[in-house]
Amino acid sequence: MRLAKYLAHAGVASRRAAEAMIRDGRVTVAGDVVLDPALDVDERSGVAADGRRLDGPERHVVYAVNKPLGVVSTAQDTHGRPTVVSLVPDEPRRLYPVGRLDADTSGLILLTNDGALAHRLTHPSFEVGKTYRVRVGGGPVGEQALGRLREGVRLRDGMTAPARVVRVRKAEIELTIHEGRNRQVRRMCEAVGHPVEALQRVTFGPLRLGVLAPGAHRRLSDAEVERLRGLSGSAATERKRRGS
Ligand code: URA
Repeated sequence: MRLAKYLAHAGVASRRAAEAMIRDGRVTVAGDVVLDPALDVDERSGVAADGRRLDGPERHVVYAVNKPLGVVSTAQDTHGRPTVVSLVPDEPRRLYPVGRLDADTSGLILLTNDGALAHRLTHPSFEVGKTYRVRVGGGPVGEQALGRLREGVRLRDGMTAPARVVRVRKAEIELTIHEGRNRQVRRMCEAVGHPVEALQRVTFGPLRLGVLAPGAHRRLSDAEVERLRGLSGSAATERKRRGS
């Protein structure tokens, strides 16, 4: 692997920043300063950055973040808006958001450097439930609208899967879905005559947003990460058992 990429994967810096570190003479391979970011290296090459040896794959971490409104959930934004990743400034490893929330949605989003886990948690076939607290317009939500949301709503990209729906107040519901289509909750509510006025994600699988303040983050414990891993594994096992 190219030296700059190796440093980025080790969580030292972004690939571009790693190239600058190499050019500045801060990186050694087997004790010798190397100025070529394209040098081919692996775990046995003895790569060190600022004197710190980088061997072996980095430890995986997962953070829960309470995304405020206006913050984007991509790793980088071309329009210079704040990103969820910038809400965890003290973490040296490169983090990626697990799935997306719209800029105008607040609430629970996970960040991790474990690409395989992120993929499993967001792939629809793993059926990880996410609950949204939704304030809607269009008057009080009636039984008919609730029933349609529960059974599935026809959207331009097909029917939605059955959802769990609970009315919390006259114009506020909690909706749990397993899919992750673009602006899905907004489109579902709009389709039943109740445009979304405010949307917040309050759970992701077994995790709850809880008391995390807007913009705050916390690192998940090993036990919580294991539960997430088990969750995506058990859905796959169940599908295999069903033969689907
Ligand atoms: N559904 C939406 O419409 N928006 C989100 O951000 C998440 C789910």
